[in-house]
Amino acid sequence: MVLSGADKSHVKSVWGKIGGNAGAYAAEALERTFAAFPTTKTYFPHFDLSHGSSQIQGHGQKIAEALTQAVNHIDDLPGTLSKLSDLHAHKLRVDPVNFKFLTHCLLVTLAAHVGGDFTPEVHASLDKFFASVSTVLTSKYR
Ligand code: HEM
Repeated sequence: MVLSGADKSHVKSVWGKIGGNAGAYAAEALERTFAAFPTTKTYFPHFDLSHGSSQIQGHGQKIAEALTQAVNHIDDLPGTLSKLSDLHAHKLRVDPVNFKFLTHCLLVTLAAHVGGDFTPEVHASLDKFFASVSTVLTSKYR
């Protein structure tokens, strides 16, 4: 997946608009993922998955921080996400299909919050960005 210059600027621009809400939005996306694709819950047997749980909020914050790092180093996603790639592939063994589920829910959540800024072009660029992040996080999965 190659991100064009326009893709990168769309992603950076929408991420700037999200600002301090990134953690809350990622937590909402996580809740939507668990609701819409319940098999994803099997990776979180140790979490309280009830609505608004502090563990979901905290984990949303961590996901948002990782995505913010990725946005800030969009030209070096493999280097930036290397440790998370090892974690998800080797330790957690997250099956790659789950990244499509989370990505779908991140897109829906962002669309619901940024309104008119979620143009078709921004949608396409964000989808490519999440696909690129997912490729890195699943690249060591065998
Ligand atoms: C955009 C894709 C994703 C990003 C950016 C991401 C990011 C993260 C981060 C930052 C952590 C915390 C690492 C740490 O504490 O050092 C984490 C942990 C974890 N991730 Fe992901 N993740 C993604 C996708 C997924 C998916 C699709 C699943 C499974 C459905 C998943 C399951 C987990 C689990 C089980 C943990 C450990 C939770 C814990 O015990 O605290 N991740 N992820």
